[in-house]
Amino acid sequence: MPIGVFDSGVGGLTVMKEITRLLPEENILYLGDTARVPYGTRSPGTVIRYSIENTLFLTSKRIKLLVVACNTSSSVSLKQLREKFPIPVIGVVGPGARAAVAVTKVKKVAVIGTETTINSGSYEKAIKEIDASVKITGVACPLFVPLIEEGWLDGDVVRLTAEKYLSQIKGNGADTLVLGCTHYPMIKDIIADAVGIGLIDSAVETAKEVKHVLGDGNMLRQSKKEGSRKFFVTDAPEKFARTGERFLGEKISNISKIYLGG
Ligand code: DGL
Repeated sequence: MPIGVFDSGVGGLTVMKEITRLLPEENILYLGDTARVPYGTRSPGTVIRYSIENTLFLTSKRIKLLVVACNTSSSVSLKQLREKFPIPVIGVVGPGARAAVAVTKVKKVAVIGTETTINSGSYEKAIKEIDASVKITGVACPLFVPLIEEGWLDGDVVRLTAEKYLSQIKGNGADTLVLGCTHYPMIKDIIADAVGIGLIDSAVETAKEVKHVLGDGNMLRQSKKEGSRKFFVTDAPEKFARTGERFLGEKISNISKIYLGG
């Protein structure tokens, strides 16, 4: 059975990229909810509803494990998805939080993400559950997603935007910054330059967690052949293919447009 992965759009492809790097033999179904992106500016209730609809679709295709490859959705809907669906559900917040706690030496961590992710306090809760003495600063960076989707991955505009947002973190004593949004790995170097501290990429950490959970449950695909990839979107498949290739780092074909919601 395949692994199901969903995100609000193309961003979750950074997570899929890490999963396929680590587990190339796995079959993957990816759903990008491109008709309703962005999630990061919406209320938790709406993101929960969208996330349940996405999961209903993917589970109807008989997946063995679900990856919520969206920080916003992972921040607000994981509990509901775990209660409602009888398969392992992995989000991106827990793995990123665990890695941050493991590497911070001064017990001060900063997190950047969408407004809904930062307002939810999800990283703060996840980090405090592991080590209550760690101090956390969260900064919402809402302009990063549209800039990255436009392909502005370098140049003055994105550099100045990064400097402005990250000035709140620079010099506050944190030694670790969690990239709490699917898009941010695309401008990792610019963020690193602007903030000057170590970065945690939630996508990389999530892929490790997927391997771990599948291994523990004896659910890894036993094959030497590369797995199949199939993509579903709720709008504009051509645009998804074009933008998505930058995120996934390879050509995207095999896309179907589907309809979700009322
Ligand atoms: N995928 C979202 C996240 O990681 C970013 C894009 C959006 O706002 O939908 O939070």
